[in-house]
Amino acid sequence: MMKTISIGLLGLGTVGTGVVTIIEDHQEKLMHQVGCPVVIKKILVQNLEKLRSVDVEQSMLTTCSNDILDDPEIDIIIEVMGGVGVTKDYLLKALRQGKHVVTANKDLMALHGSELLRVAAENGCDLFYEASVAGGIPILRGLVDGLASDRITKMMGIVNGTTNYILTKMSQEGRAYEDVLKEAQDLGFAESDPTADVEGLDAARKMTILATLGFSMNIDLADVSASGISNITEADLRYGKQLGYTMKLIGYAHREGEKVEVSVQPTFLSDNHPLASVQNEYNAVYVYGEAVGETMFYGPGAGSLPTATSVVSDLVGVMKNLRLEVNGRSAVTPQYFKNLKEDNEKYAKYFIRLHVQDEVGVFADITTVFAKYGISFEKILQLPVKKNEVAEIVLVTHRASLTNYQHIMQQLRDMNAVKEIKSSYRVERNSI
Ligand code: HSE
Repeated sequence: MMKTISIGLLGLGTVGTGVVTIIEDHQEKLMHQVGCPVVIKKILVQNLEKLRSVDVEQSMLTTCSNDILDDPEIDIIIEVMGGVGVTKDYLLKALRQGKHVVTANKDLMALHGSELLRVAAENGCDLFYEASVAGGIPILRGLVDGLASDRITKMMGIVNGTTNYILTKMSQEGRAYEDVLKEAQDLGFAESDPTADVEGLDAARKMTILATLGFSMNIDLADVSASGISNITEADLRYGKQLGYTMKLIGYAHREGEKVEVSVQPTFLSDNHPLASVQNEYNAVYVYGEAVGETMFYGPGAGSLPTATSVVSDLVGVMKNLRLEVNGRSAVTPQYFKNLKEDNEKYAKYFIRLHVQDEVGVFADITTVFAKYGISFEKILQLPVKKNEVAEIVLVTHRASLTNYQHIMQQLRDMNAVKEIKSSYRVERNSI
């Protein structure tokens, strides 16, 4: 039997607590899988006095990172404290001291993943980060191992639980964004500062990681255009529903030939799309591979025990490598140089909701703008004339390049007859 493996845990918040629980409760199973006992030796916390929901000896807690990073008996660091600046320094130090690292930190991996992975490889260390995307769903292993033989061409992810919860409630209960956000905050689903979630940044970080692995190409966070859900209205969702669509915040990663695009935006999915039925705080990632076709990974995207499950599975991975003496050798460097699509190579269908002057010829003028760019309509909804002689028109286009879509939107904005562009969203049908 190998010696006992000692772990240093950085952070004892929601996920850290789950990690302690799983390591304690599953000790027998862990020993069976890896052939030796696993113990948490030290835990870095901010406040030694804080009441905890797990039973840990006070002597295990420290507020000094060096008690862990400089301890030669600690073999593996589990980082669940979050943050980027100082956390990165801790992990670099740990790797340079030959300690393997498991992290749940999507911000860190999206921003500094390639550097950390390089330092890990240089030092013969493992750096695993399954929990950084979609919490309890084993999506990174699904991409890297499960679909290793295939060529992935498309990934669409509902990778943010907060926004999925808000959109589900808005859609099902006809409630306003602010109202549902407040409820989500009261229930503890949404952060008191929800900006990163609702403006799509959290999802963009996760899509950076997914696209890098799925397309074997170093994608940077700056390559991922992101917009969020804070301007979506109940009326948008109602009109979408009439046309057979469900609104989701979708992380979209697409490869055509050698070129890729990655973005995050509110998207109307046709109701029969596999992702349309993913509700509340659940996450799902739809992956299309040339050989396998459609697959979908579904589950809890956050939470103490779900996220800790992924963290401890990574720990098992490190320990299996320790037994085989192959640590630091499983990471595959990207196969391709980054090759991003230009805007005129990015195609989508669009839902556009307009308030226009209710006069003869206005609709013809609007269609002329679209016709100029060769764009026709898949669906049109003209709603009863409202007060002030304004009509509401909802258009769903056939595929248009992003460049042409932007030209069309600018020309609509410039038309006197167009009183207001109420909203516009990408549309995805269930067709490959
Ligand atoms: N804030 C994230 C979400 C959870 O709402 O999905 C952790 O990534």
